[in-house]
This record gives sequence, structure tokens and C-alpha cells, in this order.
Amino acid sequence: MRVILAITGASGVIYGAKLLEALEEKGIEVFLVVSEIGKRLLREEAHIDYEQIETKTEKSYENSDLFAPIASGSFRFDSMVILPCSISTLAKIANGIADDLITRAALVTMKEKRKLIVAPREMPLDAIALTNMALLARLGVIVCPPAPAFYGKPEKIEDLINFVVGRVMDLLGVENDLYKRYRNEEKI
Ligand SMILES: Cc1cc2nc3c(=O)[nH]c(=O)nc-3n(C[C@H](O)[C@H](O)[C@H](O)COP(=O)(O)O)c2cc1C
Repeated sequence: MRVILAITGASGVIYGAKLLEALEEKGIEVFLVVSEIGKRLLREEAHIDYEQIETKTEKSYENSDLFAPIASGSFRFDSMVILPCSISTLAKIANGIADDLITRAALVTMKEKRKLIVAPREMPLDAIALTNMALLARLGVIVCPPAPAFYGKPEKIEDLINFVVGRVMDLLGVENDLYKRYRNEEKI
């Protein structure tokens, strides 16, 4: 399986970094793009150097590099995830604006009818963001806000992160035991 993973400049970049690690552990080929604010947030919010995670990927690209292979529909991949997705990047995609590699690859994913998962993080949400999310959802995009559930009785921040990452892995169709599933221990 080949996955494009984008990390944009919204709070919660740690989710994207953890997803990268989890996909790599499963032997999935990851093509990584991190926006400029995403790189700064990785450093300032999650204490992770972009250079440190970049080396773990199959390939990484600069967000300004519109000549990268993932900017073309002829590039073979299965799915794209934007985790977290800024409201700005969400708005651009919903309005067909492809002025950087992340938005271009997302629009390519949509036109090629491949799986696109976006994880917008903001609160509260205004009508512009909600309208853009509804528009994308109607077009088949999976809108998956990083909203951890508490039924698994999380004890550490890591449990909350793993819940979100595990749910995204589920949506990608990747087997995982990253989080406690709802009433999973009960006989069915
Ligand atoms: C410290 C910091 C935190 C931010 N958090 C968010 C956020 O949680 N959600 C969001 O939509 N934008 C957030 N922003 C604003 C975006 O980074 C900004 O709109 C930027 O243009 C997004 O560009 P990108 O999508 O290319 O990364 C934040 C900015 C900074 C500097």
C-alpha cells in the first residue's frame, strides 16, 4: 500500500508524526509532505525535528515543489491523509485551489477517485469551515476531526493520540491495535 501523508500547520501535528511511525511499522510506503507552519509546529509543539522524521519515509517532498511526482494523477498511490488539516488547507481544497503540493495532491486524489482523509482541527468551527467540510464530505472525502473518545478510559496523552491514529489507520484499511475498541472485550 502507498499512502501520501500531509501534515499542515494546525495544532496536533503529533498525530501526523505518530501516524507516520505506525504506517512505517506496518511496512506501508509513505510519501510525506509537511507545510512550513507544520514543520514549525512539529518543533515547537511536539519537540520533533522535521529532519528527524523525514528520514523514516519512503520519500519526502517540499510543499512548494509542484514538480514532485505526487502532484500528478499518473503517480500510483492508494490514499492520502492530511493529519492534522488546517482550516486554510481545507478551504483551498474545497474550492479547487492547488497552489502548493499538499492541495494539489489532495485535488489529484479526489479527481482520480482515490481515498482522501482530512482531519481538520479547530474549535469552535465557523460556517465557512463547516460549509467546506460538508462540501468535501458530499464529494466522498472522509472528514475525520481528531476527536478522541473516552470510552477506552485513556490514562495518558499517548492513549488519546493512539485513538485518533488508530481510527485513521482503520479508515485506511490497515490492521492495528492502537486503541481500545468500544466494548471489544464483550462476547458477540
Ligand atoms: C501556533 C499556531 C497554531 C495554529 N493552530 C491552528 C489550528 O489548530 N487550526 C488551524 O486551522 N489553523 C491553525 N493555525 C493557523 C495555520 O497555521 C495557518 O492558517 C496557515 O496558513 C496554515 O497553512 P498550511 O495549511 O499550509 O500549514 C495555527 C498557527 C500557528 C502559528
